[in-house]
Amino acid sequence: MVQFQHVCLAAGSAEKLREWRDRWLRLFDSGRYRFALTDGPTDIVTDADGTQSFYVFDVNGLECEFTHLSGDR
Ligand SMILES: [Fe+2]
Repeated sequence: MVQFQHVCLAAGSAEKLREWRDRWLRLFDSGRYRFALTDGPTDIVTDADGTQSFYVFDVNGLECEFTHLSGDR
């Protein structure tokens, strides 16, 4: 069996990262999808090197990380 902890996708800007988090909230709140886990997204955190990220669960309960690398400006 092949398993992994989470997938990570990189946003091209810090603004886009915030948009993706807001979009997840809108989709969750729309009631159009049934989520296996109902935990909301984490806050966007900023690492010491400036990299920003947040985590969410998709409809199947798979953990997804979205990040903006500080060098991607
Ligand atoms: Fe990660």
